[in-house]
Amino acid sequence: EKAGYKHFMLKEIYEQPQAITNTLSGRINAETGEVSIPELNLQGADFDKIDRIFLVACGTSWHAALVAKYWIEKYANIPVDVDIASEFRYRHLLINERVMTIAISQSGETADTLAGIRIAKKMGSKVVTICNVVGSTMTRESDGTVYTHAGPEIGVASTKAFTAQLAALFLFTIYVAQQKKTISKEKGVELGRALIGISSVIEKELPRIQDQISRLIESFYDARDFLFVGRGLSFPIALEGALKLKEISYIHAEGYASGELKHGPIALIDKDMPILALVPQDDVYQKSISNVEEIKARLGRLILIGTEGDTHLQNITDDIIYMPNVHEDMNPIMYTIPAQLLSYEIATRRGCDVDQPRNLAKSVTVE
Ligand code: M6R
Repeated sequence: EKAGYKHFMLKEIYEQPQAITNTLSGRINAETGEVSIPELNLQGADFDKIDRIFLVACGTSWHAALVAKYWIEKYANIPVDVDIASEFRYRHLLINERVMTIAISQSGETADTLAGIRIAKKMGSKVVTICNVVGSTMTRESDGTVYTHAGPEIGVASTKAFTAQLAALFLFTIYVAQQKKTISKEKGVELGRALIGISSVIEKELPRIQDQISRLIESFYDARDFLFVGRGLSFPIALEGALKLKEISYIHAEGYASGELKHGPIALIDKDMPILALVPQDDVYQKSISNVEEIKARLGRLILIGTEGDTHLQNITDDIIYMPNVHEDMNPIMYTIPAQLLSYEIATRRGCDVDQPRNLAKSVTVE
């Protein structure tokens, strides 16, 4: 059942290209860039009535929401609020029929997220669920759905469900932008092709990335703490990397927006503090590099994940994993791969049961 892999988690990491391909299958026309999402039940004029979107989720699915905020605001031009479901459900919400609420949930059964959409619906909001389980409670209670087709995820740590959520959310972004005409036809083709193309890039790179990481972790696996940092689209991926590491290896880890370091956490940095920094050559690259250089000046043990050909990184550290130069909106999907594999390799090196971490359940159906 593990198809030759040592753990479900590793199998599911390797299933990601297929999960993304299945999620996109039949939904984008590579020639025209046109997107269709029939189960969403919303088109054209429906979006004219929406002036705000709430994204509501827990855990890893919340990280997908944080990435989607950047995409939706940039291309569909709709303000997006992102909320942790357990906060959303108990706060004074300003919701009406002009607000769309989108739940993101692998299982479709998470208690807090479900409660959140029930409240939003009562307040008149249109409710959409991004979900991996056909017929789950959230999909039954929503006005529309975008299914991810990642297949069953057995490992408690979410991997392929997350990258499939990102693919579905980018698909949704292109769809809304096309319906609202906030992007040109050419932009639609460009974004659609970038999304379709990411699976084969990941497929090709996965074994190399795992191999390089498995060698690198020898000097990091016994760390007590770990920081993950990134800016822009890489910030939520830093949070996701930190969650993955603490969940399966029991190392204390935190994710930060790189620009926040100097507001407190930089006090933690010394020669024993490993920091994984995501530094793709995107529109905030220069800013990220100056943050990383500040870490270096405080003797932090840096691991850099950056763009192939970026030789400047070699002046900062020897521990670099290079990623192929993909479309900048695809970086969150691409850079998730080394974050997952680093956590997996460290946890297995420490002898942890990565598929069944202590104290955790696959689906949190109670509050
Ligand atoms: O099924 P859901 O996506 O609603 O689950 C949400 C979280 O419980 C889940 O992502 C959790 O954080 C994972 N164990 C993370 O790997």
